[in-house]
Amino acid sequence: MYRTHTCGELRLQHKEQQVTLAGWVQRVRNLGGMTFIDLRDRYGVTQLAITEDSPDTVKETANALGREFVVQAAGAVIERSNKNAKIPTGEIEIAVTGLKVLNAADTPPFTIEGESDGGEELRARFRYLDLRRPPLQNALQLRHRMAQEVRSYLDNQRFLEIETPFLIKSTPEGARDFVVPSRMNPGEFYALPQSPQTFKQLLMVAGYDRYFQIVRCFRDEDLRADRQPEFTQIDCEMAFVEREDILQAFEGLAKHLFRSVLGVEFAEAFPRMSYADALQRYGSDKPDIRFDMRLHDLTGRVKGKNFAVFDTAEYVGAICVQGAAGYTRKQLDELAEWVKRPQIGAKGLVYIRLAEEGAKSSMDKFYTPGELQQIAAVLNARQGDLILILAGGRKKTQEALGSLRIEMANRLGLRKSDTFAPLWVYDFPLLEWDEETQRFYAMHHPFTSPKPEDLPKFYSTDKSEIAQVNANAYDFVLNGTEIGGGSIRIHDAGVQQRMFEVLGFSKEEAEYKFGFIIHAFRYGAPPHGGIAFGFDRWCALFGGQETIRDYIAFPKNNAGRDVMLDAPAKIDDIQLKELQLVTGKSEG
Ligand code: AMO
Repeated sequence: MYRTHTCGELRLQHKEQQVTLAGWVQRVRNLGGMTFIDLRDRYGVTQLAITEDSPDTVKETANALGREFVVQAAGAVIERSNKNAKIPTGEIEIAVTGLKVLNAADTPPFTIEGESDGGEELRARFRYLDLRRPPLQNALQLRHRMAQEVRSYLDNQRFLEIETPFLIKSTPEGARDFVVPSRMNPGEFYALPQSPQTFKQLLMVAGYDRYFQIVRCFRDEDLRADRQPEFTQIDCEMAFVEREDILQAFEGLAKHLFRSVLGVEFAEAFPRMSYADALQRYGSDKPDIRFDMRLHDLTGRVKGKNFAVFDTAEYVGAICVQGAAGYTRKQLDELAEWVKRPQIGAKGLVYIRLAEEGAKSSMDKFYTPGELQQIAAVLNARQGDLILILAGGRKKTQEALGSLRIEMANRLGLRKSDTFAPLWVYDFPLLEWDEETQRFYAMHHPFTSPKPEDLPKFYSTDKSEIAQVNANAYDFVLNGTEIGGGSIRIHDAGVQQRMFEVLGFSKEEAEYKFGFIIHAFRYGAPPHGGIAFGFDRWCALFGGQETIRDYIAFPKNNAGRDVMLDAPAKIDDIQLKELQLVTGKSEG
């Protein structure tokens, strides 16, 4: 037997027991006659003590130990004279009478403790060492717990977990596909699924009425803190449902996860908000409602004072940042630069500081103190507050204000990671018009149904009417992050055909790409709908982090590379030839 206990298990109640532990040497401290070793495994750290009285063989072995050696230690549990209240095993140590090196280790390239001195790139290259650190072990344990709770909850609700294939034909979720060449079908490619969307709908046609899957999805898109090229969804679909059934079912799942994983209870129903309201009030389709700081529309109030910036703007909006009137000129200039960054895209920033001596503003020239106070009243601003105003096109400016709102909340520490504010957002536009390609794109995906009352517009020949059609779609938002998205689907072959037509596919193209699903809809498709949650994002948020990388055992870096494997990598000529991917030139 390698061990009787783990390194996180022993307490004072085990005093005088003979035990054997096995683990990794985290640290060796040599204090003259005494040697202390911190022995680590997944469960914790236990101190091994080697004294003058320990057997000589033990002392010799201890002297030769290095960091991350794998050792087995036997001895009695004793009470420490110098207790460590910071760790659960801190009251005891092991008086070692037997010590065996199970495997030596090269010196690790960085320290493997709660905090590491290793840079990101280095830790990624040695991911298996980084994964020994407690924060990562906790992250993966949280992920495990979440997955177990999802399965048990949905199983109880009679959902069936069904796997769907990875080697498929493109499913349009708005990103590029990763493709796999087929050796047996030269010149042809599989696409890896961006989601199991079409399969789960086919399962509804097939009568499996409640489906879920914790499933890997693949998307070739630009990466960010909350995006990986391969990521995991909790993918779900139900038949014979309306939007309300879906929201109820998955609010139940969310509440179960909050309760069972975090011990957080939500007695009330989650708030809901339409897309239009979310944009108008928060400048975002995924508002963080842990704090207020709403957008206020000033368009009707500020025009006609010869301030060209406002007079020519389609929309003028503002937020009130409570208690921030102390912002200095330099800080305000810096904020003005911040909103001009291409990602935010505002032209400039106007402010009103409600200082003790009165309202101070960058537009003092155009507005009297009384007028500035009137604007302040619209925002319910008080002395000590700072009003930030942006002007321009409506949607763009609302979104820029939304970003500024988040930035100010970050600066003021209003976004606490242990506070949770879930929210449903619904009634998204069905389509987005793309100026560059002069065509509509599906805002969610092409299988999302228009709202029934918008069907006449959907069949209109007038593009501006089509653009107004709303989708029967919804997102689940948590703390300003889109955790999940779904919709009630089209289940009528005719409406689906119309959708492909609106998206600019010819009948032949639609048949070639999606013939299988259009055909399936002719054989008795039930009304159905579903949702998919970003599992990595959900885990990260529960763990209090914004980046998902540490909740994935072996993630990719921002350039989509696995730096540990050094992938992607070239493949050899024989493989290329078999796949018929060699160009004439390299063959010769
Ligand atoms: P959608 O494309 O909105 O919907 O994806 C669902 C959720 O998956 C997460 N997500 C990601 N997480 C990490 N990295 C990525 N690259 C990434 N892309 C998306 C998000 C998102 O909310 N088939 C539909 C669902 C449906 O209609 O039922 C779909 O995939 O949290």
